[in-house]
Amino acid sequence: MSVNVIYGSDAGATRAVASRIAKRVQGKAIDVAQATTADFETCSLLILGSPIYGAGDLQTDWEFGGLDKLAAANLAGKKVALFGTGDQASYPDSFVDAMGLLYDQVVAKGAIVVGFTATAGYVYTASKAERDGKFVGLALDEDGESSKSDKRITAWISQLL
Ligand SMILES: Cc1cc2nc3c(=O)[nH]c(=O)nc-3n(C[C@H](O)[C@H](O)[C@H](O)COP(=O)(O)O)c2cc1C
Repeated sequence: MSVNVIYGSDAGATRAVASRIAKRVQGKAIDVAQATTADFETCSLLILGSPIYGAGDLQTDWEFGGLDKLAAANLAGKKVALFGTGDQASYPDSFVDAMGLLYDQVVAKGAIVVGFTATAGYVYTASKAERDGKFVGLALDEDGESSKSDKRITAWISQLL
């Protein structure tokens, strides 16, 4: 299986997580600022990740250019998994919202989203990344709960593979 992990990152947390995930699945971590439309297509599992910066704002490189590349890619029937970084203590009303925004984009393009996870164990009040009581992907809090990330990543990867 070939895996591309395409991420955006302002401050580096999401980049570091993308590298960890890519290493574990022997995939490639690609910054969305440098990604080509082909990078979204030429893999058997596509993993997308983004932090969220305020209500409704995807990370800058997703916002300015990344979503256009995604929109240009043929994702019909493609297996896609999502991860989001956030901070549940400081932003409990919009925890990892970016995952929900990416979810809507890829579903509209006919992708099959895998890797939903339980919301148990997180403390927040609202998230756009929830569907039917589950997160649409892997939620990570590198600001307040980085010690839990390894376990969460491991469980998620075994769920994906
Ligand atoms: C101005 C600002 C707004 C933020 N807004 C949210 C938010 O609405 N929800 C959330 O879960 N995290 C929020 N965060 C936390 C970031 O998403 C989190 O720190 C993330 O790990 C940053 O990723 P990066 O280092 O890859 O840029 C915000 C952080 C900042 C600085």
